[in-house]
Amino acid sequence: SSCLGGEDIFAAVRENSPDGQFIANLSIAGDPRPSGIRLALSGDSADWFSLEGNTIRLNASFSRALDRESEYRIMAEILNENDNKPVFMEETVQPVAVSELAAVNSVVFVVKAVDADEDTIVYVIDRSLPDSSYFRIDLPNSGDVILSKHLDYETKTQMQLAIYAEMNTPEKYNTSATIMINVLDGDDQYPQFQPCVPLTQDAVHPICTNPIYTVNVTEAHQFSPGRIRAVDGDRGLDAPLLYTILSADDGCFHIDNQSGEVTMSRLAEHRLLMPTFQLQASQVDDPRKYTITSAVVRVLAQNHFAPQFNSSTYVGFVPQSRESSMLVSTHGNQALLLQAIDRDFQDGINPKVHYSLWPKSNNTRLYHMTQEGYVIAKGNLLPASEKQVIATDQESGEVARATVEIVALQRGERAPWSLFGGQKRYTLHVDVVLAGGIMAAVLLLLLVTLMFLLLWLVRRWRQQQDVAAKDSVAQGKHRNV
Ligand SMILES: *[C@@H]1O[C@H](CO)[C@@H](O)[C@H](O)[C@H]1NC(C)=O
Ligand SMILES: *[C@@H]1O[C@H](CO)[C@@H](O)[C@H](O)[C@H]1NC(C)=O
Ligand SMILES: *[C@@H]1O[C@H](CO)[C@@H](O)[C@H](O)[C@H]1NC(C)=O
Ligand SMILES: *[C@@H]1O[C@H](CO)[C@@H](O)[C@H](O)[C@H]1NC(C)=O
Ligand SMILES: *[C@@H]1O[C@H](CO)[C@@H](O)[C@H](O)[C@H]1NC(C)=O
Ligand SMILES: *[C@@H]1O[C@H](CO)[C@@H](O)[C@H](O)[C@H]1NC(C)=O
Repeated sequence: SSCLGGEDIFAAVRENSPDGQFIANLSIAGDPRPSGIRLALSGDSADWFSLEGNTIRLNASFSRALDRESEYRIMAEILNENDNKPVFMEETVQPVAVSELAAVNSVVFVVKAVDADEDTIVYVIDRSLPDSSYFRIDLPNSGDVILSKHLDYETKTQMQLAIYAEMNTPEKYNTSATIMINVLDGDDQYPQFQPCVPLTQDAVHPICTNPIYTVNVTEAHQFSPGRIRAVDGDRGLDAPLLYTILSADDGCFHIDNQSGEVTMSRLAEHRLLMPTFQLQASQVDDPRKYTITSAVVRVLAQNHFAPQFNSSTYVGFVPQSRESSMLVSTHGNQALLLQAIDRDFQDGINPKVHYSLWPKSNNTRLYHMTQEGYVIAKGNLLPASEKQVIATDQESGEVARATVEIVALQRGERAPWSLFGGQKRYTLHVDVVLAGGIMAAVLLLLLVTLMFLLLWLVRRWRQQQDVAAKDSVAQGKHRNV
């Protein structure tokens, strides 16, 4: 009965305390020796202490001093009859919220159970649950639950942990509680431009790369490319973002720093210039968390007119020659140039027009069309043929067609000058009209001169007649008298 009614003792001792330092008195009824009670210290750290009657003293030496960096515990075990189960205190087993940024090895929450017999309680984590690997309890009777590894809101937002509270008695009565752990989103993700371009097949937690935005703008047209959207990678936080255009795009575009609305501040001028600029989205609350992507602007030509050939048929001549390839010529031995004119362009030349011949010649590719509009004949002794030349505007998809008749010349024969076929006709026609006009003018001049001469001659003859008449009057010798 002298052993009953004992209690736990809590004592503190300074580090580097001398040998024999008083630690605590054990309170028992009466003097141990005469009453036949034997006191003993037990446990791993028992040799750090010695007993003097009912007084516990420090057992240290010069070579063995207490230091704070170690932990020593004595457990006083008092046995009693035990008939009650421990009970968790309700408020310590409520759902808890833990930030995903909580430090590993820190205490994330504390559970506590009580026992009517006031026994020491040992807390044990049920390792059969999958989430138990995230937690541990280092000091079995503390109830301090420690985080073992990093939490990640992006992969797991809720966890379950079962903890046993067990009495440290031979009966090992226990009780268990399940605790819901809600993981809170911490700011550990960067913003992402939308839509997400997934790098992996994982549909639940895709890893995104930023999209590259492209937009078509028609030359000399005001146009609003629209809204660009990025989201915070921490969906639980959804921090507001700030949009900026990083690289100087000569000020053509403007982005609203809050909404991401992109507008053009002036017209796109240079058709062949393809502005590319960098867009940045950063968190307003933490500018170090940002993401960058590119935007490519394609400036398209205005398209009011389709390309057109200036004739529906062309004639080309290929001389018989030993050369392996030569230009196909037209009348007057000039190179045959087949260019489609696009009136959207000042000089009529649309650089996006692609030329091809149809049908394509068989494997030897006898004729080849350059992108400047010349036709090259390959090989000699080519047969005469008729082909279609197709000009395609690769920007608008518009197509122009014309026919080319290719005539094979005899050896030594020259391409004829022609008034009737091909392109020379027009210029020669102009010459003929001009020549005709000049000739008509000269003839007219000649006619007028002749008329004047005739008039003059007639006058002169009349005058002579008159003079002759007057003469005869003066002399009174009228021919009729
Ligand atoms: C501890 O017990 C000893 C002898 O029993 C006594 O002299 C001493 O005053 C006690 N110390 C304390 C702090 O109670
Ligand atoms: C005191 O510590 C020494 C070791 O440093 C040990 O040999 C000795 O047994 C201890 N004394 C008691 C009473 O535990
Ligand atoms: C808890 O007690 C039950 C019996 O009531 C026992 O089956 C179980 O193993 C105990 N659990 C632990 C962790 O001691
Ligand atoms: C966002 O733009 C507004 C004007 O549009 C400007 O007043 C404000 O300073 C900008 N905010 C930042 C953070 O640059
Ligand atoms: C037709 O176009 C070609 C260039 O493709 C040019 O050489 C020729 O003079 C043009 N003909 C006329 C009648 O405009
Ligand atoms: C932009 O124009 C090109 C052809 O020039 C076309 O292939 C592309 O689909 C267009 N893009 C958009 C976003 O309209």
